Order: sequence, then C-alpha cells, then structure tokens
Amino acid sequence: MSEHTENSHEVIDHEKRDFIYIATGAAAAVGAGALAWPLVMQMGKAADTLAAGSIEIDLSKVSEGAQLKLLWRGRPVFVRHRTPAEIAEAEAVDIAELKDPETDNQRLVPNPAGKLDPKYLVMVGVCTHFGCIPVGEQGKVDAQGQYGGWYCPCHGSHYDTSGRIRKGPAPKNLEIPPYEYVSDTVIKVG
Ligand code: FES
Repeated sequence: MSEHTENSHEVIDHEKRDFIYIATGAAAAVGAGALAWPLVMQMGKAADTLAAGSIEIDLSKVSEGAQLKLLWRGRPVFVRHRTPAEIAEAEAVDIAELKDPETDNQRLVPNPAGKLDPKYLVMVGVCTHFGCIPVGEQGKVDAQGQYGGWYCPCHGSHYDTSGRIRKGPAPKNLEIPPYEYVSDTVIKVG
C-alpha cells in the first residue's frame, strides 16, 4: 500500500511488514495504533533540520504489546508498550548478572507526577556491537532472542525486556535517548 498527501505523507505496507513513512516537521506527534511493528521515518526535511529536531510521541496511541519505531536524528528509536509479564521479567533480573548493570527503573524517565511508568520503554534501536537494528517482534520467539526482548541477528546479541544485553558480543545495553514527558501521555525525544 502506498499513499501520498501534500505533505509527502507516505504509508507503505510491504507484505504486512508495516513500514510507515510520515513526513513531519521537526516536531511531530505520532502513535502506533493497532500496528504491532510500524516504522515511522521522517522525510521531506533537510537532514540538518531533522538532525537538530525533536519529536513528540503520544504514548497513549501505542497499545499494550505494540512497539512504535521511528527515526530520530538518523537513528531508529523504539517505543515499546510492555506487557505486565515483560515488566515483571525485567524487574526480576539480578543486575549482578548483567554485563552492563542497570535496573529497569534506571532505564525509565519520570512522568510529570514524578513517577516512573514501566509500561513504556524508549530506546535507540541500534545494537551496541556494530550498529545493526535489532528485531523484537512480539509473539515470535525467534525474533525476540532468548530473553524475550530484542535480538540482533548480525552477530547474535540477545537483549532482555528492558533492552539490556544478556548474551552475545554487544558490550552495552540498548541506549536510552534523551527524552522527557511534556504531558501525562506525551513524550518529547531530543
Ligand atoms: S551488530 Fe549486533 S551483534 Fe553485532
């Protein structure tokens, strides 16, 4: 499927792989809707404009179990609405076992009420080994790795449901980008 608007808004569905390209300004609110694995990329602006930009994301549009992918400053960002089981799994990990020790809470940002909402995990979707984009298709064990989170097929790095490296050559957890809540449900990345 391909669709264009005057703002070069383009949605492309490649055999249900759900690639969505949305031309926006330097700031845009986006949401995942019912798509489990949408990829949102900003197009139509000069690279230097996008590089300096930030994006706003309405978390309420990302349904439980879904993940939004978007491009920010040339890098993919994952916004994952985790299930209670995934949160419990992430919180139960003994960080002494980790190559890059971080609690799940350390990977979250407080909302305007000063509380952490573990449902939403926001990460740069770039493997910390050599920069491939990990996969993490929910419901497909072979696409989530051995720890139920993300898997980098380039050299076999497994990340858990908090995006922490658990097995394989990657040295660090998936990076948390700079972001903040601008309302109860909207975050600004960058
Ligand atoms: S780039 Fe991901 S494991 Fe090597």
